[in-house]
Amino acid sequence: MWMILFVNSGTYIPSGLKVLSCPSPAYLLRLSTVALLAVTLSASAASTASKIEYNRDIRPILSENCFACHGADSASRKANLRLDYFEQATAPRKDNQAAIVPGKPKESLLVHRILATDDDIMPPAKTHKTLTAEQKDLLTRWVAEGAKYQPHWSFVAPVKPAVPQVKNKLWVHNPLDNFVLARLEKEGLSPHRKRTAAHSRAASPST
Ligand code: HEC
Repeated sequence: MWMILFVNSGTYIPSGLKVLSCPSPAYLLRLSTVALLAVTLSASAASTASKIEYNRDIRPILSENCFACHGADSASRKANLRLDYFEQATAPRKDNQAAIVPGKPKESLLVHRILATDDDIMPPAKTHKTLTAEQKDLLTRWVAEGAKYQPHWSFVAPVKPAVPQVKNKLWVHNPLDNFVLARLEKEGLSPHRKRTAAHSRAASPST
């Protein structure tokens, strides 16, 4: 993140971040954007470190490889099996088996079928689609972790990141500044210059 920032800023810095002593308003504005992006990225990476998330990790695999025959469209549905909802995917089938037995990949038909090496393999060979080893692993681990589905992302309310606390409260004029300043303070830096009218204008285009 920071390296890209410096390349963009056109300033060559041999070994650190010390040139920030006299940033221009435009530079600060760009810094805000990049810092916010960095904060957003690291926040999402941290909150989902190893846990598998249906919307992010699983839905795309099922959607690409399975929903054509096991999804919402009843006309093209095969084996009377839906995999797009927990209730249907875990419903008992013949011989008391189920496509998904939450927490039990070995008892789940879905896992057997994606790992099959014969004609049982899903998606069927005639689709010319194959799952990668990583995708098979993700699906298996997701079943092992309880096969938690999530509503489609468009129904999930976005989560607002908490505004970080900063020491130099006087410098802060709007919540975006907190993100910038918190990062600078973490790096042991301070935005030397007093805020100027130009900076305020640049930072809040609405005024
Ligand atoms: C082109 C259509 C098609 C696609 C795509 C497809 N399937 Fe199937 N699936 C079938 C058909 C047809 C059957 C029934 C025949 C059989 O059991 O092989 C079936 C059966 C199954 C069964 C067994 C159901 C039972 O009760 O025995 C499971 C589990 C399954 N599919 C999972 C998947 C998964 C997981 C994917 C994606 C990775 C997938 N399928 C993709 C057509 C498809």
